[in-house]
Amino acid sequence: MNRIVAKRILASVGLLDAARQAYRFVLASKPGATNTAAKIAKQIGGDLNSARLMKRIAKLEAYFRENPSRSKILHTEVAKAIFARSPKLYSGEELPDHLKRYTYPPVLSIALNSHCNASCFFCRDLDFKGTLIDFDQITKLDSAVRNARVIDLTGWGEPFFYPKFEEVVERICRLNDSPHLIMVTSNGSFLSERWGKLLAGRINGLIVSMNAGSADVYAKQMRYKNKQFTFDSTVASVREFTKNITAADRSRMILHMVANTENYKDMTALVRVASDLGVPTVNIGHFICVDEKQMHLSLLNVREDYNQELSNAKVVAERLNIQLNGRRFFVDEKEVKGAETCMAPFEQFFVEIPGTTAPCCFMGSERMGNVYEDGFEAVWFSNKMNKLRASRYLPACQVCTHYTPFDDPIAHLSAHLTTKLPKPKAQMPAIGY
Ligand SMILES: C[S@@+](CC[C@H](N)C(=O)[O-])C[C@H]1O[C@@H](n2cnc3c(N)ncnc32)[C@H](O)[C@@H]1O
Ligand code: SF4
Repeated sequence: MNRIVAKRILASVGLLDAARQAYRFVLASKPGATNTAAKIAKQIGGDLNSARLMKRIAKLEAYFRENPSRSKILHTEVAKAIFARSPKLYSGEELPDHLKRYTYPPVLSIALNSHCNASCFFCRDLDFKGTLIDFDQITKLDSAVRNARVIDLTGWGEPFFYPKFEEVVERICRLNDSPHLIMVTSNGSFLSERWGKLLAGRINGLIVSMNAGSADVYAKQMRYKNKQFTFDSTVASVREFTKNITAADRSRMILHMVANTENYKDMTALVRVASDLGVPTVNIGHFICVDEKQMHLSLLNVREDYNQELSNAKVVAERLNIQLNGRRFFVDEKEVKGAETCMAPFEQFFVEIPGTTAPCCFMGSERMGNVYEDGFEAVWFSNKMNKLRASRYLPACQVCTHYTPFDDPIAHLSAHLTTKLPKPKAQMPAIGY
């Protein structure tokens, strides 16, 4: 079992997914909490109001407060057991109050804006103009915010560019007092003392998309319109930020690279940057192609060389005590799709700027409904979502890059291409590749 889980860590692509898979691996060595969740899951088949069940839930909740980064998967295990007993029960029908929290997504991702000071070639065109969420819309997510274990404030733009970022964080933390609640993926260029002070003690995950380990490569990858944003300025910003957060916050930071033919030789340099900044983890994701015209930039063109560079980076990472995650070519990964491996429909929900939703970043143009128009519960507990919980039947699930072997070109193509669904409109980017 551990071997399979470890293999899946290497297979991690999406950022939330990477954190989730790494967590599953850690979980395997935490039998106490796992046992409690397993016992709760077993009891879900019996009397839902028994004193023993309530006691176990209280124990699990106390554990979550002490170990916030471990709550997602255990929460999900309980959710799955409730759903297995009955989808109607899962949707709230005759479900006792002490179990309700487990039927909400442990990870709620809220897109705030699509504005960005950069224009990475894999993300958008140079002249991109973004949009932003009306702050009042967020109040429509209060029930989901209260029940979540992690709130991810990452959209298809730069989150620290959102003018009311501070108000959003304060509001979320007033509604949900779980420690280490906030997750953000950022290009890092706006990180500062101010954001460090705001997020100190609150970080569940802070992923900085550096995409390079040197100044030249960084400039070509990020394509900032304002040339004041450089590799050195971002490194200085991250450094300033880390001075103002706790050691526990720092242990949850990751430097990220979307590896492509133009930057993969910078992997070792990025490991050194992480070491210099005191960031313990580097994740190498791979470029997922949304446009056929960019296929020449895919790692598919440099398989052997990329593997070699990754091996070189691993040697340096080991020496510097940096955790380096990245998938490799020519590894015997088996295709394991479906409910056996994918937890997404129980575990996370992505809310886009207009309120449209998706259970993961790999859905292409498939959407689940609009929470700002119809309410959170109407969408999260909808027939469409329950059908997905029972079976990963959607076209995008059949070509999910996350569960497709790395050697297969499908793993390097967006579901927008592989499911032949229309691409999102340029002015309203959707979450996901
Ligand atoms: C869209 S960004 C938004 C947040 C922030 N501006 C940033 O760059 O981190 C979220 C993550 O998706 C990654 N990403 C964007 N386009 C991608 C693609 N085509 N393939 C793989 N990863 C991609 C980015 O590098 C980033 O790590
Ligand atoms: S990946 Fe992030 S930093 Fe790059 S253009 Fe997209 S939103 Fe901006």
